[in-house]
Amino acid sequence: MHEYDLIADWYASHRTGRMGVPEVTALAASLPAGARVLDAGCGTGLPLTRVLVEHGCQVLGVDSSRELLARFQANLPHVPVLRAPIQSCELPSRTFDAAIAWGVLFHLRHDEQAQAIANIAGALKPGAAFLFTSGDTHGSIDGAPMDGVPFRYHSYSVDGYRDLLVAQGLALEATHTDPGGNLHFLSRKTG
Ligand SMILES: C[S@@+](CC[C@H](N)C(=O)[O-])C[C@H]1O[C@@H](n2cnc3c(N)ncnc32)[C@H](O)[C@@H]1O
Repeated sequence: MHEYDLIADWYASHRTGRMGVPEVTALAASLPAGARVLDAGCGTGLPLTRVLVEHGCQVLGVDSSRELLARFQANLPHVPVLRAPIQSCELPSRTFDAAIAWGVLFHLRHDEQAQAIANIAGALKPGAAFLFTSGDTHGSIDGAPMDGVPFRYHSYSVDGYRDLLVAQGLALEATHTDPGGNLHFLSRKTG
């Protein structure tokens, strides 16, 4: 998608809260030192990639937005990044101890979300966690424009996500809604 290139400065200046920080901090604290973590749709890297880096994780950031990745590289110059769609990029197999995708999957069409989950699952080691946010109602909706740019959102139901995860060897362990209304899915690769 190209929308984030159009609103990069606006997004960077509005992504200032702590949304996702408690969940990513808890995930990072559960990982071994030097754990390898995939940050799918990493944006500017602030605040979430930085949380991972501060916990000693070796992070690979993947994002489709050239403009947001330019800001990511200014914020976290030593963290490797890949500019590519998460649903089709080439990722190393069974490599990561965890993956996060905060505020990303619902931007993808349903078929693309299924591809993204399959791609991420293939890159995880057995036992690795995958934490992501999305909606809980199957469908597609037009959201409020951001900085005048329209955004459309797509979601599965929680059961739909559970089924997608199971199909890729992941078990849905927990969901919870944070104070900002973001629904977090914590899953784990079983095999
Ligand atoms: C709401 S922002 C979240 C960014 C970051 N995770 C954060 O917490 O601020 C959504 C991000 O997903 C990225 N994105 C959207 N579609 C993508 C795709 N198909 N592949 C990779 N990144 C994508 C956007 O460029 C943007 O950086």
